[in-house]
Amino acid sequence: MRIGVLGTGMVGRTIGSKLIELGHQVRMGSRDADNEDAHAWASGAGNPATTGDFADAAGFGEVVFNCTAGMHSVDALDAAGADNLDGKVLIDVANSLDSSTGRPPTLGIVNTESLGERIQAAHPEARVVKTLNTVNCEVMVDPAIVPGDHVVFVCGNDDAAKAEVKGLLGEFGWPEERMIDLGDISQARGPEMYLPLWLRLMGPLDTIRFNIALRMAPPG
Ligand SMILES: NC(=O)c1ccc[n+]([C@@H]2O[C@H](COP(=O)([O-])OP(=O)(O)OC[C@H]3O[C@@H](n4cnc5c(N)ncnc54)[C@H](OP(=O)(O)O)[C@@H]3O)[C@@H](O)[C@H]2O)c1
Repeated sequence: MRIGVLGTGMVGRTIGSKLIELGHQVRMGSRDADNEDAHAWASGAGNPATTGDFADAAGFGEVVFNCTAGMHSVDALDAAGADNLDGKVLIDVANSLDSSTGRPPTLGIVNTESLGERIQAAHPEARVVKTLNTVNCEVMVDPAIVPGDHVVFVCGNDDAAKAEVKGLLGEFGWPEERMIDLGDISQARGPEMYLPLWLRLMGPLDTIRFNIALRMAPPG
């Protein structure tokens, strides 16, 4: 499949490399088509890896990943262009982390809204699916590095888009029974508001490779 990855940071590069390993063609997008990180990534990743600006990458992809800094994701998607996103599955893994008042960062979009919803509202032509934002990027593409039956959340308004995304999550190694479908895109609030806890668990756990599992009492 042709996949556009918007974002040249650790997440874009990690997801891009995994997609190439899985046999997909990937174009990484940036504000600047000459972004050095993107070029370095592509030269290490081989022939199926190309680079461009956000519009090039979105236009190339049959599916598009949003791996941009959450407070700037709408700007990045505006630059990608509505025509290039029209009808496409847009997988949003971003968080609205805001470090402008220091660390740890706070959430810039929160409580009665979420980044996933804001992106869907700004780009109604795209079929936004929020997922993977609750784990570090190494875990996103290789969940088996964390033992146990930990989970990933999925939400979005379009059931066919969610099914397509679950297929890709399966390629990354997530078993279907550990993909928790929360419902429509407004459900992105929960997984996004988990981030403050995630950021505070890093210290006591002394790792970024962790995730949560769900346990239910037997019925009755
Ligand atoms: N790090 C993780 O493991 C992890 C886990 C879960 C979720 N996330 C989320 O995944 C996303 C990517 O994280 P990251 O650490 O790889 O990268 P990042 O540093 O958060 O974001 C880098 C990307 O954001 C773009 N960007 C920055 N400012 C921009 C602006 N003003 N307008 C348009 N685009 C702008 C950059 O564009 P250029 O390429 O032009 O510089 C770059 O492509 C974030 O939302 C993060 O919260 C990260």
